[in-house]
Amino acid sequence: MQKRIVLGITGGVAAYKSAELTRLLVKAGHSVHVVMTEAATEFVTPATFQALSGNPVHTALWNSSVSNSMAHINLTREADLLLVAPASANFIAKVANGIADDLLTTLVAARTSPLAVAPAMNRQMWENPPNQRNVEQLKEDGALILGPASGSQACGEVGMGRMLEPGQLFEEVEAWFQPKLLAGKRVLITAGPTFERIDAVRGITNTSSGKMGFAIARAVAEAGATVTLVAGETALATPLACQRIDVKSAQEMLSAVQTHVAASDLFISVAAVADYYVLNQSEHKIKKDAHILTLELAPNPDILASVACAENPPFCVGFAAESENLLEYGEAKRKRKQLPLLVANLVQTAMGADDNEVILLDDDGQHRLPRAPKQEIARRLVAHIARLYPRWKEGR
Ligand code: C5P
Repeated sequence: MQKRIVLGITGGVAAYKSAELTRLLVKAGHSVHVVMTEAATEFVTPATFQALSGNPVHTALWNSSVSNSMAHINLTREADLLLVAPASANFIAKVANGIADDLLTTLVAARTSPLAVAPAMNRQMWENPPNQRNVEQLKEDGALILGPASGSQACGEVGMGRMLEPGQLFEEVEAWFQPKLLAGKRVLITAGPTFERIDAVRGITNTSSGKMGFAIARAVAEAGATVTLVAGETALATPLACQRIDVKSAQEMLSAVQTHVAASDLFISVAAVADYYVLNQSEHKIKKDAHILTLELAPNPDILASVACAENPPFCVGFAAESENLLEYGEAKRKRKQLPLLVANLVQTAMGADDNEVILLDDDGQHRLPRAPKQEIARRLVAHIARLYPRWKEGR
């Protein structure tokens, strides 16, 4: 989904981070057209952005090389988004008051595209009441305000006002561009492994990085849904705007799911739930000796089946990781657990990797999603769910 983005850069130390942001946007296939204020060129040179974007960088309102001398209208005409990062307090104040005295502020005033603003300033400037009023005004006028974050600042102080990191801004922009296919839906997702305790330090678990589940949580949130993510132990960062509940054991995962399922329209069960828990758990660390240690294992509840087979269930999506007979085992699992949709993947290709390839099994048959980054697979899965859901809902 290639977009045309006008990236405005104002005078702030964070301007150097916009070089990385430009690189990320270009790498994702977007065309980036950079506009710098005069102050911004004191921090980073236009040549940097010209090299990274592959497009001319605009700094002046009056450009004799443009035939109609109206660079501001030409630039904004076809843009899908006008993103200003970093946005200084001065820029925010001007826009909040409709002032258009340089190319960038003129562009904002003359634009037909949406406006996103990533503030970056010292914490006192951020908290300054006029600045707060101006930010509120921008929000009221429909601008999307990205950040700022809290942390150490170029002036040596610590507090609110840091620009979001380039990676975060990139994610925000990508999320913003996704079609809102699940707007208004409440979606419960399980992800990652469960951990079944043996004693105070040991346990048994499943191999699962949590990457697929977290990518799905992000894609579902990007599609406009409210996401509750029940996560087993993983080091992954919580995707944007998801409510995360950390659990360890299958029993804890089941309790969290039971608490939230009634308020959910969809349930996507990506977690690799351990099939057994240890009956003879020890409170203290079991001392090592030469004897054979016997663990008694009892089956865990099947969380997905319990949700899918209940009265009035949400739209349930299951996962099947198999090492052979993918389609046969997958379809059998779908029928047994009464699922409208099951995502089947081979353990050999899925585990821990950043890419995946899957087969979607539903009442219409099978749909192959060829190898792609997990985030891309997640977005295509969301699109498929959004197609099935209304039909499923109607048939109930
Ligand atoms: O039966 P199997 O474990 O292969 O099924 C996989 C699917 O069922 C996954 O969607 C997984 O999240 C879910 N599951 C579950 N509770 C279990 C076992 C699996 O929710 N105890």
